[in-house]
Amino acid sequence: MAEALNPSLTRRDAARLLGAAAAVAAVPSRWTARRADVDALLRQLTLEEKVSLLHGGTDPASKGQAGYVPGVPRLGIPEIRLADGPAGVRVTASATALPAPVALASTFAPDLARRFGAVIGREGRALGMDVLLSPMTNIVRVPQAGRNFETLGEDPLLAAALVAGEIRGIQGEGLIATVKHYAANNFENARQTIDVKVDERTLREIYLPAFEAAVQAGVGAVMAAYNHVNGVYAAEHPHLLTGILREEWHFGGWVMSDWYATHSGKPALTAGMDMEMPFGVNYGGLAAAVSSGRLAESAVDTAVRRVLVQLDRFGLLGGGRPRPAPDPAGGARAAKEIALAGAVLLRNERDLLPLGRADLADLVVIGPTAASPLVGGGGSARVIPASAESPLAALRRQAGPGGRIRWATGVDLEGVPVPASALALQRTQQGAQQGAQQGGAPQAAAQVDHTGADALPAGSSWTWTGTLTAPETGDYDLRIQGAGGVPSFNGSISLTLDGVRIGSVGALIGGNSSLIATSGGLTNAGATVRLEAGVAKPVTVAATGVAGTPLQVRLAWVTPRRRQEALREAAALAKGARAALVFAFNEGTEGADRAALALPNGQDPVIGAVAAANARTAVVLNTGDPVLMPWVGDVSSILQMWYPGQEGADATATLLLGGASPGGKLPVTFPRRAEDVPTAQPERYPGVGGVADYSEGVLVGYRHYDAHGVEPLFPFGHGLSYTRFQYGDLSVRAAGGGLSVSFTVANTGERAGVEVPQVYLGSPPGPPVPMPPRALAGFARVRLSPGERRRVTVAVPPRALQYWSDGRWTLARGRRTVHVGSSSRDLRLRQEVTVR
Ligand code: BGC
Repeated sequence: MAEALNPSLTRRDAARLLGAAAAVAAVPSRWTARRADVDALLRQLTLEEKVSLLHGGTDPASKGQAGYVPGVPRLGIPEIRLADGPAGVRVTASATALPAPVALASTFAPDLARRFGAVIGREGRALGMDVLLSPMTNIVRVPQAGRNFETLGEDPLLAAALVAGEIRGIQGEGLIATVKHYAANNFENARQTIDVKVDERTLREIYLPAFEAAVQAGVGAVMAAYNHVNGVYAAEHPHLLTGILREEWHFGGWVMSDWYATHSGKPALTAGMDMEMPFGVNYGGLAAAVSSGRLAESAVDTAVRRVLVQLDRFGLLGGGRPRPAPDPAGGARAAKEIALAGAVLLRNERDLLPLGRADLADLVVIGPTAASPLVGGGGSARVIPASAESPLAALRRQAGPGGRIRWATGVDLEGVPVPASALALQRTQQGAQQGAQQGGAPQAAAQVDHTGADALPAGSSWTWTGTLTAPETGDYDLRIQGAGGVPSFNGSISLTLDGVRIGSVGALIGGNSSLIATSGGLTNAGATVRLEAGVAKPVTVAATGVAGTPLQVRLAWVTPRRRQEALREAAALAKGARAALVFAFNEGTEGADRAALALPNGQDPVIGAVAAANARTAVVLNTGDPVLMPWVGDVSSILQMWYPGQEGADATATLLLGGASPGGKLPVTFPRRAEDVPTAQPERYPGVGGVADYSEGVLVGYRHYDAHGVEPLFPFGHGLSYTRFQYGDLSVRAAGGGLSVSFTVANTGERAGVEVPQVYLGSPPGPPVPMPPRALAGFARVRLSPGERRRVTVAVPPRALQYWSDGRWTLARGRRTVHVGSSSRDLRLRQEVTVR
């Protein structure tokens, strides 16, 4: 342990910090706004034209993106297209599917965030987009929140560093970034209405820093969230949208609402919400409000000016800028590098990983996501890549001819077509649809199984009605599987049992179809239902196809017997093999939080059975956030790959086989038990009476576990390597209002590897306000060859020494401990400093 240095921090240092924080970051000079042009333009616009720039509309030539704002061609104001999202460009065309942002967060690497952003920036421009609806930087507060995979973890300092890098990457390619969802939008349950009750200090210290960093990085747009914050909709919140964003942070861009999150005209506009998306339900009336004297035209002008200034800054006015060619190869390279860098080795007993040649000669792989890759999470962040290999195929490819790799699903998500013996059905074709043949009279149908060569005609529309009778009592997974359905809000291929909709394929956000396709490439949806032997249940399957694509429909089930069989097959295959790999998953998606922290679909017993059958079992996780692991002590190794994007399979195989060492760190705490999480009380989550009380205050994520002495399953910042690192020679000095923390990291193992040393700052004794015992204050990412040692210096920003009180940042004075370590719970070096 190093000797104390006692650097003193003065008030002057702190004042310097505050000045710096208030400055708006420089933007690339070629996009510097030419305000005079914008004001001249504004004077030439009619009131109706101005208002048309303040809300979305229907794109006459849609590319499948989320939003569109018509331009004013006579004045050279272009139409603008706005596309999601956080893991790649979401349009009809295929695009690079990057790893989920949680994987990016695990890299702790702002330079990789910049690269991530640059891929999306270039591709967005190439695909005809002008604005990106990303990055998302809401703090992970609830471990089972549906969109945790889309955002940048539970720590504000980490999220701030990464979001700033990503924005520079996106906007450096000329695409306008939109940081979202401002603010305190941390879970999906009742997301459009929930009222978040949060105190100002918690907002400032936990939920706002990443947004402030985005503004400092020059972000062009901000998306206002769905939820209320302290009783006021975020999209009409003067304190958030004007007080903080404009007056304190000097944000020069425009604010748009989340989709259908605008609830008023004048109140929202005058609060600082410039653009209603996706349509002008409220803002369409602004012109009338001005004409009738209810709204000052200057309020409209202010909002329009903010939009035009950004269009001008990005060179989009008066003819626009040339668009680059897509660079799929460059996107794929970045996707792989980030998937590799974001992988977190959670456990590696007896160094089972990386697998050796002998393991590959007799390896058993279990799990549906080994065969059908889980590329990304669901909802508006879902990106469809041109192709994605499966981990099984990548393992076989990388193992080469000497490999013998056998697979079993273990968990059967697909099942078999419900047999004729369990069905009594009639099939009816509905009237002509998009050129398909005429409807007809009902006919008897044995099963619903129209796939491949037996697909139904494109554009046709059908219903099957009758009864379903189970042969034995038990829990059945009923599945509706399909492809070629017409896009629709509720899904166009659906299954209803006993009047209850069990599943639908092709629904927009909020549907229950799985992200994991069937082996034949069908979308798979459904639910587990208890059926009694011999009891006939009314059943309906309905399917409406889209023109040009054959309509495939299958009604399938996984019987209780089949579930047991799949588990036994997996265990039997694993028994006697040299090593077993189980791929486990959860399915994070917008619109719904996970029902439980446990792995879904009965995966725990399968992992348990495989681990019991083979002592050399490793688990590969494709989850977007924390899961419980009742089997943690029974398996040798756990590799967290998150949702690793289109190159995820290649990256996974490379890491498992030792072509690279994992070097990612957890950006979220993994709890041991559901009751241990900071939001375990219903008042906090999902809320009571429509209010979610953020009463845990600043004790979010690891801060909660440390403050309450709760042992996590895997702590924030945790991540092992195939090599070992040693820390030493800590020195700390005051610098620029913050601290400069230097230490040495050495690779003492036999392989090259990456370490992410983390600096945590302790609270002073008897803190002026409740503070967590330690908070992340800085980090670095170093790649070291075997035997190599490096002096690392981490700058701790002044803000890390402060807390929010009485409307300003205040130094937390007194003796504080600087810790340096390999995770928030693996602290290797410490030194006391006195902050004065
Ligand atoms: C999501 C946003 C997204 C928008 C457009 C909303 O439902 O909350 O994150 O950008 O849809 O797709």
